[in-house]
Amino acid sequence: MSEKTRVAILISGRGSNMAALIAAAKEKDYPAEIALVVSNRPEAEGLKTAQARGIQTAVLDHKQAGSREAFDGALHQLLVQQNIQLICLAGFMRLLTPGFVMSWEGRIINIHPSLLPAFKGIDAHAQTLAAGVKITGCTVHIVEPEMDSGPILAQAAVPVLPGDTEETLAARVLQAEHRLYPMALWLYLTGQAFPSDETDMLISA
Ligand code: GAR
Repeated sequence: MSEKTRVAILISGRGSNMAALIAAAKEKDYPAEIALVVSNRPEAEGLKTAQARGIQTAVLDHKQAGSREAFDGALHQLLVQQNIQLICLAGFMRLLTPGFVMSWEGRIINIHPSLLPAFKGIDAHAQTLAAGVKITGCTVHIVEPEMDSGPILAQAAVPVLPGDTEETLAARVLQAEHRLYPMALWLYLTGQAFPSDETDMLISA
């Protein structure tokens, strides 16, 4: 069997998507191993979760970094040092510089809690409710320099229900995220999800 892809997960907070990826990667036949979890915030809850599961963690505090370029330079060095082959953003609330994204072209994946290209940014659920749409969901995509953009690998649809608040909607979408992200990573690594307009996949997670 071929070797597993060494994946680093970048987080900023809770890390529930990270935990879903770690759980999936425990399976013998899963094509990735989670080799490292990096947080830009020392207090991120997800760091403890990763440590409890025996995953190596690192903190790169963006407040200490000086500049965006310096932060991304240190991140790049760390990832190269750890022989990381693919990066999964999981609630990583920081825009990466175009230089960093280009040097990891096609090797950074993100999950976003909406059906992109709708509702980019940090307040996806508020935007969803304000727009009055009846179906939302989550998207796993290849990262390009512009925020929440790039070829879509997989999406899951989730209903917006009457009376939903940002919290109730976020919780329902999060459940779909936890199913979609491990599946999308698996599909990508096994050549079954292609980052092109012609072959985007829609998964009902
Ligand atoms: C998730 O809902 C993720 O999709 C979202 O932040 C949450 C992180 O939760 N990411 C974005 O909004 C990125 N634009 P988690 O830390 O429990 O995985």
